Amino acid sequence: MKRVLLGISGGIAAYKSAELVRLLIKHDYDVRVVMTQAATQFISPLTFQALSAHPVHTQLLDAEQENAMGHINLARWADVLLVAPATANCLAKLSHGLADDLLSTLYLAVECPVYVAPAMNQVMWHKAVTQENIQRLTQHGVIFIGPEAGSQACGDVGLGRMTEPEAILRSIIPSKQGIFQGKNILITAGPTRERLDPVRYITNRSSGKMGYALAEQAQKLGAHVTLVSGPVALSAPKNIHTVLVESAADMYDAVMQHVTGQDIMIAAAAVVDYTPGNVQAEKIKKQKKQTELNLHKTKDIVASVASLNNKPFTVGFAAETHNLEHYAQDKLIRKNLDMIAANWVGQAEGGFDSDVNALQVCWHNGQKTLPITDKTQLANQLLVLIAERLDA
Ligand code: PMT
Repeated sequence: MKRVLLGISGGIAAYKSAELVRLLIKHDYDVRVVMTQAATQFISPLTFQALSAHPVHTQLLDAEQENAMGHINLARWADVLLVAPATANCLAKLSHGLADDLLSTLYLAVECPVYVAPAMNQVMWHKAVTQENIQRLTQHGVIFIGPEAGSQACGDVGLGRMTEPEAILRSIIPSKQGIFQGKNILITAGPTRERLDPVRYITNRSSGKMGYALAEQAQKLGAHVTLVSGPVALSAPKNIHTVLVESAADMYDAVMQHVTGQDIMIAAAAVVDYTPGNVQAEKIKKQKKQTELNLHKTKDIVASVASLNNKPFTVGFAAETHNLEHYAQDKLIRKNLDMIAANWVGQAEGGFDSDVNALQVCWHNGQKTLPITDKTQLANQLLVLIAERLDA
Protein backbone atom coordinates (compact mmCIF):
# COMPACT_ATOMS: atom_id res chain seq x y z
CA MET A 1 0.00 0.00 0.00
CA LYS A 2 1.33 3.43 -0.92
CA ARG A 3 0.41 6.62 0.83
CA VAL A 4 -0.50 9.48 -1.45
CA LEU A 5 -0.82 13.01 -0.14
CA LEU A 6 -3.00 14.71 -2.74
CA GLY A 7 -2.79 18.51 -2.88
CA ILE A 8 -5.62 20.27 -4.68
CA SER A 9 -5.23 23.91 -5.66
CA GLY A 10 -7.95 26.22 -6.92
CA GLY A 11 -8.77 25.56 -10.54
CA ILE A 12 -11.77 24.24 -12.39
CA ALA A 13 -9.90 20.96 -13.00
CA ALA A 14 -10.32 20.28 -9.24
CA TYR A 15 -13.49 18.39 -10.13
CA LYS A 16 -11.33 15.76 -11.88
CA SER A 17 -9.44 15.19 -8.62
CA ALA A 18 -12.51 13.45 -7.21
CA GLU A 19 -12.14 10.79 -9.90
CA LEU A 20 -8.41 10.68 -9.20
CA VAL A 21 -9.05 9.88 -5.51
CA ARG A 22 -11.51 7.18 -6.53
CA LEU A 23 -8.96 5.59 -8.86
CA LEU A 24 -6.18 5.77 -6.27
CA ILE A 25 -8.36 4.06 -3.67
CA LYS A 26 -9.36 1.45 -6.22
CA HIS A 27 -5.67 0.72 -6.75
CA ASP A 28 -5.14 0.25 -2.99
CA TYR A 29 -3.57 3.60 -2.26
CA ASP A 30 -4.17 5.28 1.07
CA VAL A 31 -5.07 8.88 0.22
CA ARG A 32 -5.07 12.03 2.38
CA VAL A 33 -6.33 15.20 0.77
CA VAL A 34 -5.08 18.74 1.31
CA MET A 35 -7.01 21.60 -0.29
CA THR A 36 -6.15 25.27 -0.67
CA GLN A 37 -8.84 27.79 0.21
CA ALA A 38 -9.37 28.51 -3.49
CA ALA A 39 -9.84 24.79 -4.21
CA THR A 40 -12.68 24.62 -1.67
CA GLN A 41 -14.50 27.24 -3.78
CA PHE A 42 -14.56 24.82 -6.70
CA ILE A 43 -15.44 21.59 -4.94
CA SER A 44 -16.45 20.73 -1.42
CA PRO A 45 -13.96 19.09 1.00
CA LEU A 46 -16.84 16.82 1.94
CA THR A 47 -16.62 15.12 -1.46
CA PHE A 48 -12.99 14.21 -0.80
CA GLN A 49 -13.70 13.21 2.78
CA ALA A 50 -16.32 10.76 1.53
CA LEU A 51 -14.08 9.39 -1.24
CA SER A 52 -10.86 9.09 0.80
CA ALA A 53 -12.57 8.12 4.06
CA HIS A 54 -10.35 10.61 5.91
CA PRO A 55 -10.82 14.21 7.04
CA VAL A 56 -9.67 16.76 4.48
CA HIS A 57 -6.93 19.18 5.53
CA THR A 58 -7.41 22.81 4.60
CA GLN A 59 -5.74 24.89 7.32
CA LEU A 60 -2.11 25.33 8.23
CA LEU A 61 -2.89 26.64 11.68
CA ASP A 62 -5.84 24.63 12.86
CA ALA A 63 -5.43 23.34 16.41
CA GLU A 64 -7.90 20.53 15.84
CA GLN A 65 -6.24 19.27 12.68
CA GLU A 66 -2.74 19.71 14.13
CA ASN A 67 -3.91 17.49 16.96
CA ALA A 68 -5.23 14.83 14.61
CA MET A 69 -2.33 14.85 12.18
CA GLY A 70 -0.13 17.93 12.13
CA HIS A 71 1.45 19.16 8.93
CA ILE A 72 4.87 17.68 9.77
CA ASN A 73 3.33 14.31 10.50
CA LEU A 74 1.37 14.53 7.28
CA ALA A 75 4.60 15.27 5.40
CA ARG A 76 6.35 12.33 7.09
CA TRP A 77 3.39 10.06 6.39
CA ALA A 78 3.44 10.54 2.62
CA ASP A 79 5.20 8.23 0.16
CA VAL A 80 4.27 10.58 -2.65
CA LEU A 81 3.06 14.19 -2.77
CA LEU A 82 0.85 14.70 -5.81
CA VAL A 83 -0.49 18.17 -6.59
CA ALA A 84 -3.41 17.95 -9.02
CA PRO A 85 -4.47 20.38 -10.24
CA ALA A 86 -1.50 22.67 -9.77
CA THR A 87 -2.45 26.20 -10.78
CA ALA A 88 0.02 28.83 -12.04
CA ASN A 89 -0.17 30.50 -8.63
CA CYS A 90 0.53 27.21 -6.88
CA LEU A 91 3.57 26.51 -9.10
CA ALA A 92 4.84 30.05 -8.45
CA LYS A 93 4.57 29.54 -4.70
CA LEU A 94 6.24 26.14 -4.73
CA SER A 95 9.05 27.30 -6.99
CA HIS A 96 9.86 30.19 -4.66
CA GLY A 97 9.61 28.24 -1.43
CA LEU A 98 6.67 30.22 -0.05
CA ALA A 99 4.91 28.54 2.85
CA ASP A 100 1.84 30.62 3.53
CA ASP A 101 -0.72 27.81 3.42
CA LEU A 102 -0.84 24.10 4.22
CA LEU A 103 -0.11 22.82 0.72
CA SER A 104 2.94 25.03 0.09
CA THR A 105 4.24 24.27 3.59
CA LEU A 106 3.86 20.55 2.99
CA TYR A 107 5.85 20.86 -0.24
CA LEU A 108 8.74 22.23 1.82
CA ALA A 109 8.30 19.62 4.53
CA VAL A 110 8.14 16.43 2.46
CA GLU A 111 11.14 14.30 1.57
CA CYS A 112 9.21 12.00 -0.76
CA PRO A 113 8.92 12.36 -4.57
CA VAL A 114 6.71 15.26 -5.67
CA TYR A 115 4.50 15.06 -8.76
CA VAL A 116 2.51 17.98 -10.13
CA ALA A 117 -0.25 17.95 -12.73
CA PRO A 118 -0.59 21.56 -13.88
CA ALA A 119 -3.87 23.04 -15.09
CA MET A 120 -4.27 26.58 -16.31
CA ASN A 121 -5.16 28.77 -19.26
CA GLN A 122 -2.81 28.22 -22.21
CA VAL A 123 -1.54 31.82 -22.20
CA MET A 124 -0.70 31.51 -18.50
CA TRP A 125 1.13 28.23 -19.20
CA HIS A 126 3.26 29.79 -21.94
CA LYS A 127 4.02 32.97 -19.96
CA ALA A 128 7.78 33.23 -19.48
CA VAL A 129 7.50 33.54 -15.71
CA THR A 130 5.43 30.33 -15.47
CA GLN A 131 7.96 28.52 -17.64
CA GLU A 132 10.76 29.78 -15.38
CA ASN A 133 8.90 28.45 -12.35
CA ILE A 134 8.46 25.07 -14.06
CA GLN A 135 12.14 24.97 -14.88
CA ARG A 136 13.09 25.76 -11.27
CA LEU A 137 10.80 23.07 -9.93
CA THR A 138 12.09 20.54 -12.46
CA GLN A 139 15.65 21.34 -11.44
CA HIS A 140 14.59 20.68 -7.84
CA GLY A 141 13.37 17.24 -8.84
CA VAL A 142 9.63 17.87 -9.16
CA ILE A 143 8.10 15.58 -11.76
CA PHE A 144 5.57 17.13 -14.13
CA ILE A 145 2.61 15.18 -15.43
CA GLY A 146 1.20 17.08 -18.38
CA PRO A 147 -0.46 19.42 -19.04
CA GLU A 148 -2.35 18.34 -22.15
CA ALA A 149 -3.38 20.28 -25.21
CA GLY A 150 -7.04 20.74 -26.11
CA SER A 151 -10.05 22.93 -25.52
CA GLN A 152 -10.12 24.65 -22.14
CA ALA A 153 -12.88 25.60 -19.74
CA CYS A 154 -12.25 29.29 -20.57
CA GLY A 155 -12.91 28.66 -24.28
CA ASP A 156 -9.24 28.79 -25.37
CA VAL A 157 -7.61 25.92 -27.19
CA GLY A 158 -4.05 24.99 -26.32
CA LEU A 159 -1.72 23.54 -23.73
CA GLY A 160 -2.92 23.70 -20.13
CA ARG A 161 -5.58 21.05 -19.57
CA MET A 162 -4.93 18.82 -16.58
CA THR A 163 -3.92 15.28 -17.56
CA GLU A 164 -6.77 12.81 -17.18
CA PRO A 165 -6.88 11.01 -13.79
CA GLU A 166 -6.22 7.59 -15.35
CA ALA A 167 -2.98 8.86 -16.95
CA ILE A 168 -1.94 10.64 -13.71
CA LEU A 169 -2.38 7.38 -11.86
CA ARG A 170 -0.22 5.57 -14.37
CA SER A 171 2.50 8.21 -14.03
CA ILE A 172 2.81 7.86 -10.28
CA ILE A 173 2.54 4.11 -9.99
CA PRO A 174 6.18 3.45 -9.08
CA SER A 175 5.86 0.26 -10.28
CA LYS A 176 4.57 0.85 -13.58
CA GLN A 177 6.69 -2.28 -13.08
CA GLY A 178 5.42 -4.79 -15.30
CA ILE A 179 3.90 -2.54 -17.93
CA PHE A 180 6.36 -4.05 -20.39
CA GLN A 181 6.38 -7.54 -18.90
CA GLY A 182 6.84 -10.04 -21.69
CA LYS A 183 7.60 -7.32 -24.24
CA ASN A 184 10.73 -7.17 -26.39
CA ILE A 185 12.11 -3.69 -27.03
CA LEU A 186 14.88 -2.80 -29.45
CA ILE A 187 16.57 0.55 -28.81
CA THR A 188 19.26 2.37 -30.79
CA ALA A 189 21.50 4.87 -29.03
CA GLY A 190 24.49 7.11 -29.52
CA PRO A 191 26.09 8.42 -32.70
CA THR A 192 27.57 6.51 -35.60
CA ARG A 193 31.07 7.05 -36.97
CA GLU A 194 31.67 7.16 -40.70
CA ARG A 195 35.30 6.60 -41.55
CA LEU A 196 37.10 8.80 -44.06
CA ASP A 197 40.50 7.20 -43.68
CA PRO A 198 42.33 5.27 -40.94
CA VAL A 199 42.46 8.32 -38.65
CA ARG A 200 39.43 10.49 -39.43
CA TYR A 201 35.69 10.08 -39.32
CA ILE A 202 32.42 12.00 -39.51
CA THR A 203 30.21 11.84 -36.43
CA ASN A 204 27.99 14.02 -34.21
CA ARG A 205 27.64 15.05 -30.56
CA SER A 206 25.33 12.27 -29.36
CA SER A 207 26.53 10.85 -26.02
CA GLY A 208 24.08 7.94 -25.90
CA LYS A 209 22.58 9.19 -22.59
CA MET A 210 19.01 9.37 -23.93
CA GLY A 211 19.07 5.91 -25.52
CA TYR A 212 20.81 4.28 -22.53
CA ALA A 213 18.28 5.85 -20.13
CA LEU A 214 15.49 4.40 -22.26
CA ALA A 215 17.12 0.97 -22.24
CA GLU A 216 17.60 0.97 -18.46
CA GLN A 217 14.12 2.26 -17.70
CA ALA A 218 12.45 -0.12 -20.17
CA GLN A 219 14.22 -3.00 -18.45
CA LYS A 220 13.00 -1.77 -15.05
CA LEU A 221 9.48 -1.76 -16.46
CA GLY A 222 9.81 -5.43 -17.26
CA ALA A 223 10.92 -5.40 -20.90
CA HIS A 224 13.50 -7.64 -22.47
CA VAL A 225 15.75 -5.00 -24.03
CA THR A 226 18.20 -5.18 -26.90
CA LEU A 227 20.36 -2.08 -27.15
CA VAL A 228 22.23 -1.31 -30.36
CA SER A 229 24.75 1.38 -29.53
CA GLY A 230 27.15 3.50 -31.51
CA PRO A 231 30.49 4.47 -29.92
CA VAL A 232 29.87 6.20 -26.57
CA ALA A 233 31.77 6.77 -23.34
CA LEU A 234 29.05 5.15 -21.20
CA SER A 235 29.45 1.71 -19.64
CA ALA A 236 27.20 -0.99 -21.05
CA PRO A 237 24.05 -1.20 -18.92
CA LYS A 238 23.92 -4.21 -16.60
CA ASN A 239 22.04 -7.26 -17.80
CA ILE A 240 20.97 -5.65 -21.06
CA HIS A 241 21.87 -7.33 -24.31
CA THR A 242 24.04 -4.62 -25.87
CA VAL A 243 25.37 -4.76 -29.41
CA LEU A 244 28.17 -2.27 -30.04
CA VAL A 245 28.50 -0.92 -33.56
CA GLU A 246 30.47 1.79 -35.29
CA SER A 247 28.97 2.97 -38.56
CA ALA A 248 25.44 3.57 -39.82
CA ALA A 249 25.79 0.47 -41.99
CA ASP A 250 26.82 -1.62 -38.93
CA MET A 251 23.85 -0.22 -36.99
CA TYR A 252 21.50 -1.06 -39.85
CA ASP A 253 22.82 -4.65 -39.98
CA ALA A 254 22.57 -5.11 -36.19
CA VAL A 255 19.03 -3.74 -36.07
CA MET A 256 17.86 -5.89 -38.95
CA GLN A 257 19.47 -8.93 -37.34
CA HIS A 258 17.60 -8.34 -34.06
CA VAL A 259 14.29 -6.85 -35.21
CA THR A 260 12.34 -10.10 -35.58
CA GLY A 261 10.11 -10.70 -32.56
CA GLN A 262 10.43 -7.13 -31.23
CA ASP A 263 7.22 -5.52 -29.96
CA ILE A 264 8.64 -2.00 -29.87
CA MET A 265 11.56 -0.25 -31.56
CA ILE A 266 12.83 3.10 -30.28
CA ALA A 267 15.36 4.88 -32.49
CA ALA A 268 17.17 7.32 -30.21
CA ALA A 269 20.47 7.05 -32.10
CA ALA A 270 21.79 10.00 -34.04
CA VAL A 271 22.67 8.10 -37.18
CA VAL A 272 25.01 10.02 -39.48
CA ASP A 273 23.05 10.80 -42.63
CA TYR A 274 25.95 10.74 -45.13
CA THR A 275 28.93 8.41 -45.30
CA PRO A 276 32.04 8.60 -47.49
CA GLY A 277 31.63 6.71 -50.77
CA ASN A 278 34.95 4.97 -50.31
CA VAL A 279 37.11 4.86 -47.23
CA GLN A 280 40.71 5.75 -48.03
CA ALA A 281 43.11 2.98 -47.06
CA GLU A 282 45.78 5.55 -46.20
CA LYS A 283 45.63 8.85 -44.40
CA ILE A 284 44.42 11.58 -46.77
CA LYS A 285 47.32 14.01 -47.35
CA LYS A 286 46.76 17.72 -47.07
CA GLN A 287 48.52 18.64 -50.30
CA LYS A 288 45.66 20.43 -51.98
CA LYS A 289 44.12 23.70 -50.76
CA GLN A 290 40.69 22.18 -51.12
CA THR A 291 39.34 18.67 -51.23
CA GLU A 292 35.94 17.16 -51.87
CA LEU A 293 34.18 14.45 -49.97
CA ASN A 294 32.06 12.13 -52.03
CA LEU A 295 29.27 11.37 -49.54
CA HIS A 296 26.47 8.86 -49.93
CA LYS A 297 23.22 8.81 -48.01
CA THR A 298 23.09 6.15 -45.28
CA LYS A 299 20.18 3.71 -45.14
CA ASP A 300 17.36 4.99 -42.96
CA ILE A 301 17.25 2.41 -40.19
CA VAL A 302 14.04 3.39 -38.43
CA ALA A 303 12.18 3.82 -41.74
CA SER A 304 13.40 0.38 -42.84
CA VAL A 305 12.04 -1.15 -39.62
CA ALA A 306 8.75 0.71 -40.05
CA SER A 307 8.37 -0.66 -43.58
CA LEU A 308 8.56 -4.30 -42.47
CA ASN A 309 5.51 -6.54 -42.52
CA ASN A 310 4.67 -7.18 -38.87
CA LYS A 311 6.63 -4.08 -37.90
CA PRO A 312 7.06 -3.40 -34.19
CA PHE A 313 5.45 -0.29 -32.67
CA THR A 314 8.05 2.07 -34.09
CA VAL A 315 9.15 5.22 -32.29
CA GLY A 316 11.56 7.65 -33.93
CA PHE A 317 13.27 10.71 -32.54
CA ALA A 318 13.63 14.02 -34.33
CA ALA A 319 16.51 16.33 -33.49
CA GLU A 320 15.80 19.82 -34.79
CA THR A 321 17.26 23.31 -34.59
CA HIS A 322 14.11 24.96 -35.96
CA ASN A 323 10.46 24.20 -36.85
CA LEU A 324 10.48 21.34 -34.34
CA GLU A 325 6.87 20.27 -34.65
CA HIS A 326 6.64 20.71 -38.41
CA TYR A 327 9.69 18.51 -39.08
CA ALA A 328 8.62 15.98 -36.46
CA GLN A 329 5.18 15.58 -38.05
CA ASP A 330 6.83 15.24 -41.45
CA LYS A 331 9.15 12.47 -40.19
CA LEU A 332 6.28 10.72 -38.42
CA ILE A 333 4.42 10.37 -41.71
CA ARG A 334 7.32 10.05 -44.16
CA LYS A 335 9.00 7.29 -42.14
CA ASN A 336 5.69 5.51 -41.36
CA LEU A 337 6.32 5.76 -37.59
CA ASP A 338 3.78 5.15 -34.83
CA MET A 339 5.22 7.88 -32.65
CA ILE A 340 7.97 10.50 -32.77
CA ALA A 341 9.78 12.19 -29.89
CA ALA A 342 11.10 15.55 -31.06
CA ASN A 343 13.77 17.48 -29.23
CA TRP A 344 15.58 20.74 -29.72
CA VAL A 345 19.30 20.46 -30.34
CA GLY A 346 21.95 23.17 -30.42
CA GLN A 347 20.35 25.10 -27.57
CA ALA A 348 21.82 26.00 -24.19
CA GLU A 349 19.99 23.16 -22.43
CA GLY A 350 18.87 19.68 -23.44
CA GLY A 351 19.51 17.66 -26.59
CA PHE A 352 22.99 16.29 -27.32
CA ASP A 353 25.24 15.31 -24.44
CA SER A 354 23.11 17.02 -21.78
CA ASP A 355 21.82 15.25 -18.66
CA VAL A 356 18.42 16.86 -19.19
CA ASN A 357 16.05 17.02 -22.12
CA ALA A 358 12.48 17.91 -23.11
CA LEU A 359 10.37 16.15 -25.72
CA GLN A 360 7.44 17.01 -27.91
CA VAL A 361 5.91 13.60 -28.53
CA CYS A 362 3.56 13.22 -31.50
CA TRP A 363 1.48 10.33 -32.76
CA HIS A 364 -1.16 10.21 -35.46
CA ASN A 365 -4.03 11.75 -33.55
CA GLY A 366 -2.39 13.39 -30.59
CA GLN A 367 0.66 14.85 -28.97
CA LYS A 368 2.11 15.56 -25.57
CA THR A 369 4.81 17.81 -24.21
CA LEU A 370 7.23 16.27 -21.74
CA PRO A 371 8.85 19.29 -20.06
CA ILE A 372 12.55 19.50 -19.37
CA THR A 373 13.77 17.00 -16.78
CA ASP A 374 16.65 14.57 -16.37
CA LYS A 375 16.94 11.95 -19.10
CA THR A 376 16.11 9.05 -16.75
CA GLN A 377 12.84 10.62 -15.70
CA LEU A 378 12.08 11.64 -19.25
CA ALA A 379 12.77 8.13 -20.53
CA ASN A 380 10.32 6.81 -17.98
CA GLN A 381 7.64 9.29 -19.05
CA LEU A 382 8.16 8.49 -22.72
CA LEU A 383 7.92 4.76 -22.02
CA VAL A 384 4.66 5.21 -20.09
CA LEU A 385 3.31 7.14 -23.07
CA ILE A 386 4.43 4.39 -25.45
CA ALA A 387 2.68 1.80 -23.25
CA GLU A 388 -0.51 3.88 -23.35
CA ARG A 389 -0.43 4.21 -27.15
CA LEU A 390 0.37 0.53 -27.52
CA ASP A 391 -2.71 -0.28 -25.40
CA ALA A 392 -4.81 2.17 -27.39
O1 PMT B 1 22.65 10.77 -27.13
P1 PMT B 1 22.37 12.04 -26.32
O2 PMT B 1 23.60 12.88 -26.14
O3 PMT B 1 21.68 11.72 -25.02
O4 PMT B 1 21.37 12.95 -27.18
C1 PMT B 1 20.09 12.49 -27.43
C2 PMT B 1 19.68 12.78 -28.89
C3 PMT B 1 19.61 14.28 -29.11
C4 PMT B 1 20.69 12.16 -29.86
C5 PMT B 1 18.30 12.08 -29.07
O5 PMT B 1 17.38 12.63 -28.16
C6 PMT B 1 17.79 12.26 -30.51
O6 PMT B 1 17.20 13.25 -30.88
N1 PMT B 1 18.06 11.24 -31.36
C7 PMT B 1 17.74 11.28 -32.79
C8 PMT B 1 18.79 12.08 -33.50
C9 PMT B 1 18.58 12.11 -35.01
O7 PMT B 1 19.37 11.57 -35.71
O8 PMT B 1 17.48 12.69 -35.39
P2 PMT B 1 17.05 12.88 -36.96
O9 PMT B 1 15.94 13.87 -36.88
O10 PMT B 1 18.23 13.19 -37.79
O11 PMT B 1 16.53 11.44 -37.36
C10 PMT B 1 15.16 11.07 -37.26
C11 PMT B 1 15.03 9.62 -36.86
O12 PMT B 1 15.54 8.78 -37.88
C12 PMT B 1 15.78 9.23 -35.59
O13 PMT B 1 14.99 8.33 -34.86
C13 PMT B 1 17.04 8.54 -36.11
O14 PMT B 1 17.52 7.55 -35.18
C14 PMT B 1 16.51 7.89 -37.37
N2 PMT B 1 17.51 7.69 -38.43
C15 PMT B 1 18.10 8.75 -39.04
C16 PMT B 1 18.99 8.53 -40.09
C17 PMT B 1 19.25 7.19 -40.49
N3 PMT B 1 20.10 6.93 -41.46
N4 PMT B 1 18.65 6.18 -39.86
C18 PMT B 1 17.79 6.39 -38.85
O15 PMT B 1 17.25 5.43 -38.27
